[in-house]
Amino acid sequence: MSKSVTLLNQRFTPQHYVLSLSPDKQKMSFEGTVIISGKKIGQPTKRLTFHQKGLKVTKATITRHDKKGDQELRVTRINAHKAYDEVRLHTDQTIYPGNVTVRLEFSGKITRQMNGIYPCFFNHDGEQKKLIATQFESHYAREVFPCIDEPEAKATFQLTLTTPEGETVLSNTPPEKQDTTNGLTTTTFEKTPHMSTYLLAFIYGEMGYEQSKSKSGTQVRIYATASNVALTDFALDFATKALDFYEDYFGIPYPLEKCDHIALPDFASGAMENWGCITYREQALLIDEEHSPLSMKQRVAMVIAHELAHQWFGNLVTMRWWTDLWLNEGFASWIEFLAVDHIFPEWNVWTQFLVDEQQQALKLDALEHTHPVEVPIKHPDEIRSIFDTISYSKGASVIHMLQDYLGAEAFRAGLKHYLKKHEYGNTDTVDLWRALEEISGKPVMDFMHAWTSTSGFPLVNAEVENNRARITQRRFYVNPPEKPGEQLWPIALQTTESTEEESTFDQASLALTLKDPDHFLINQGSAGFYRVSYNSSHMQRLGSQIQKGHVPPEDRLGLLADIIETAKAGKTSTVDALEFVSHFEDETDYAVWDIIAGVLGSVRLVMHEEEIREAMKPFVRHLVAKELERLGWEKKDDESHFDSLLRPVILGIAANVDDPETVEHAKALFKKAHDVEDISADIRRGRAQDSKQVKRGNSIDSDLRSVVFGTVARLGDEKTFDKLVELHRNAHLSDEKVTIAAALTSFRQEKLIKRALGMIKSEDVRLQDVAYWMAYSLMNRHAREITWQWIKDNWDWLEENLGSDLSFYRIPIYVARVRSDKEFIKEYKAFFEPKLSPSFERAYNQGLEMLQWQSAWKDRDYKEVLTLFKNRK
Ligand code: BES
Ligand code: ZN
Repeated sequence: MSKSVTLLNQRFTPQHYVLSLSPDKQKMSFEGTVIISGKKIGQPTKRLTFHQKGLKVTKATITRHDKKGDQELRVTRINAHKAYDEVRLHTDQTIYPGNVTVRLEFSGKITRQMNGIYPCFFNHDGEQKKLIATQFESHYAREVFPCIDEPEAKATFQLTLTTPEGETVLSNTPPEKQDTTNGLTTTTFEKTPHMSTYLLAFIYGEMGYEQSKSKSGTQVRIYATASNVALTDFALDFATKALDFYEDYFGIPYPLEKCDHIALPDFASGAMENWGCITYREQALLIDEEHSPLSMKQRVAMVIAHELAHQWFGNLVTMRWWTDLWLNEGFASWIEFLAVDHIFPEWNVWTQFLVDEQQQALKLDALEHTHPVEVPIKHPDEIRSIFDTISYSKGASVIHMLQDYLGAEAFRAGLKHYLKKHEYGNTDTVDLWRALEEISGKPVMDFMHAWTSTSGFPLVNAEVENNRARITQRRFYVNPPEKPGEQLWPIALQTTESTEEESTFDQASLALTLKDPDHFLINQGSAGFYRVSYNSSHMQRLGSQIQKGHVPPEDRLGLLADIIETAKAGKTSTVDALEFVSHFEDETDYAVWDIIAGVLGSVRLVMHEEEIREAMKPFVRHLVAKELERLGWEKKDDESHFDSLLRPVILGIAANVDDPETVEHAKALFKKAHDVEDISADIRRGRAQDSKQVKRGNSIDSDLRSVVFGTVARLGDEKTFDKLVELHRNAHLSDEKVTIAAALTSFRQEKLIKRALGMIKSEDVRLQDVAYWMAYSLMNRHAREITWQWIKDNWDWLEENLGSDLSFYRIPIYVARVRSDKEFIKEYKAFFEPKLSPSFERAYNQGLEMLQWQSAWKDRDYKEVLTLFKNRK
């Protein structure tokens, strides 16, 4: 393992924790004791070291157990070591290897940072209330109790919590005993499985739930604050089915009696897989059958499927060190699609996988400052920077490729073997390859190693002439560096020819004789993690195949994404790419349209000037005309899932190019919805009990609300702004708030842009949502300068309030991705360079590269693109 962090687990291995905590909601502090039994290993020493951060350790005893009995050692000094997040217990006696018990007393603070122990705020019956929750991943258990806070230091935990009488108290396991005296309830939970510290959790406060049972008898509950309990039906049904699915798929029973899913009003990420006690931000779990858009339903299913997958992949078998975080996150990000596809086959999620996971990963991995899926972690502060698209989406994409290579059944059998072999243990990437190899008999390690151990991916180029194809591979960069990498990958070419000789292509070049050159296509099915470019005449041939309807959606979207991305890099012509887009006038597939929308969006964003935005309007209107006509504004009773998802995409594209009818329709819908609306004083005070009783502009179809709000905002005035502010205040669902935030940040007037930015620090916006506001406001071309200034002016506030949040470290990327002017690079550097730290560095470099390729693309192709649009009326 290449890391310079010393593992405390190699000096003392914990086996069992007896932990008692008494948090105080009012004082925002807690006190606790912990008894850690474990084994001292390695060299004899005079001290024991544990992780802790921000705790005051007031008392410590060390007891050694050996054949002669127990021996208490004198603790002479308790030393907090800030730089290492450690507490060191010194004795004047030598501690020899063997069984040791340590008892510590400590106290700490509850802060609003949404890590460790933190408060969640909500309103019920007009009263402000608080829940107390925890978030320990990646390394925040140490902020709550002294421990060996490393994924490999697995132990069992017995937690006792003291909380106010009458409140719901949850942790990983069910309560074993509970007593109440003097208004305080003391709950001792059953011993947890042997697990990592980052998976421990507890929550208490006023909550309600709905419940059901899985096939094998596990109790499944969805918890939420009182006014949200009515929104848990969808999650309950899905969570129960998904649990059944995984028990069957993995062939290993879920080991706990219960599995809770808890919606928290304040939550830093999307959700967290604490064993048996999974926590979510509200919009990732709650669905209002009448008012939540379909895309949210799908999202909720995906998140639940993801966190449940971790109960096996992550919780039962855990990465040895953060270097292999991808084993957790990449795998869960892949199998969530398998579970959702099983439960909702009509949703077609595997095509969406290519857009949402694979294409996103290919984009980030095209930068020089990407990182390998297996990423060295030298400093704990780097951990947060790897919860990114590489660990998640590239991880998922290489798993997808591997399943394609092994076949679904061999892959599943290999996984079962892996989980059984390593249950309650820790692994690294090689352990997974080995297990899959043992079952499949295929050279998994040889095939996969390059994809996870090195950065980037290849661009496969095919020159097709007559019946010959010459194929080469080379690392693909969107921002070509001076010294490109020499790496070659073993590539499953998956061509339409499917001959033996090309089964895996791991050389620099290859010549093929083709039987059917007209249809010749590489990466058929798009399961491979690479891009393909063809000579322009062959590309034209493929374009006409598309028009004839001969190419399936996965291949259409792969071809389209590859041609535009290689054009951004200057490898193919942008004009060719845009010409190619015009073969998609008859396109009806949602996933493919997602790619088209992305192409149009990036041209608008990067080429930027008003002149080009005007010039492209006829081109775009023509492109969407057929779908606009087919889908319209009205949902059909029997339409497909894909059509329902597609409608807002098509309307969004049309509205963005100011298609007059679309814009008028959006305005009319907004007006109609809000003229009749009478927002009762009740909701304004947060007293809306049942969201169904109250009209909140809900006469607008939930799937179309974001287009309607976005359009009226973009073209609206202060009156519209005020209406949206009111809607935002009254929005019951947090997802709805985010939709409205997108609109509130879309106004053109300086005054309104500033008003929106001003809301960020107010009571109106939860800390968990601040990143959306900033990112949205930056996307608004009229607001980007002002927002950039706002970020600079409010940096200290951002750092203080979001500093431990993942989104904080993405700010350089949010800023960079909307700029394509070379002059801005200086400004960017001047601001961020002095702030660089291990957790910032990667995002900073990635942002810098984005600025570079975007400005290079604009400089290189602007004129040609403008001419193309002008000539294509
Ligand atoms: N383990 C993560 C939660 C997490 C993220 C903890 C970052 C610490 C830092 C969880 O399994 C996860 O991946 N959540 C995702 C949602 C998921 C559906 C992709 C998230 O929070 O975005
Ligand atoms: Zn995850």
